[in-house]
Amino acid sequence: MKPQRYASWTAGKLPLPELREMKKRGEKIVMVTAYDAPSGRLADAAGVDLILVGDSSGMVVHGRESTVAVSLDEIVFMTQWVTRGAKRPLVIADMPFGSYEISDEQAVSNAVRLVKEGGADAIKLERGGTSVSRARAIAAAGIPVMGHVGLTPQTSTVLGGFKAQGRTAEQARQLLDEARALEGAGCFAVVLEAVPAEVARTVTGSLAVPTIGIGAGADCDGQVLVWHDMLGYYEGHAPRFVKRYADLGASITDALGRFAEDVRTGAFPERQHTYAIPEEELAAFEEAARPSSPRR
Ligand code: KIV
Repeated sequence: MKPQRYASWTAGKLPLPELREMKKRGEKIVMVTAYDAPSGRLADAAGVDLILVGDSSGMVVHGRESTVAVSLDEIVFMTQWVTRGAKRPLVIADMPFGSYEISDEQAVSNAVRLVKEGGADAIKLERGGTSVSRARAIAAAGIPVMGHVGLTPQTSTVLGGFKAQGRTAEQARQLLDEARALEGAGCFAVVLEAVPAEVARTVTGSLAVPTIGIGAGADCDGQVLVWHDMLGYYEGHAPRFVKRYADLGASITDALGRFAEDVRTGAFPERQHTYAIPEEELAAFEEAARPSSPRR
């Protein structure tokens, strides 16, 4: 029998090789982003397979204009929080811009931090090109790697903005080459972001590992959405590929408005929201609090 501490730590975790089996069986893989313990717990309770601690946090949680400034420390902290809440889903930590561009050594060392300090099960990095070599080095170090091609927000300036990719034959062929190269480097899955559905279908059919689509049509092996976008917990403009499953922003504004109203009118707090004190203790306290009463 396994020692209890190991058995409890891994109990119920979705085994990574199961993802390829799901692709073979045609069973869709469900992935969502999360950035803290309650959202990790809720995603787990909802039966989500993969949780991405995405650098989208920079925009949807921290209000930045892009993901570029997100630091490795931020992703380490958020991964710690998410892994406290999520037990069954595999938790994938995003490598932020600047944490893997310099060398394979830098990439491996930062991926190790995400696993050792953050508790991540796997990491994700963006682009083909030099990222193929980074993915190979990280996978060789024993850390599962997810690739990400198409619209890669960390390099959106080079791409000309947050725009769909792979819309010419040449771009689509390049995207396919990148996805194949990432698979060859040992990636266990590849995210396809903002690419035409037909292109994503061909890429998906060309890989043995699963593709996870976001704005890439229904033929990917799985789908991912950003927590704040899909739950309407974001006041900005959501991309066209987002489907909103809730309107939490409106619910929260409404709840806060009613709280403010209750405080201002004295309707909150009520008796049930306060603590009792025995009568004799209260009498003694009030006696002691009287300005003229002598101090003992
Ligand atoms: O950071 C993120 O949330 C992502 C997803 C959009 C795939 O990379």
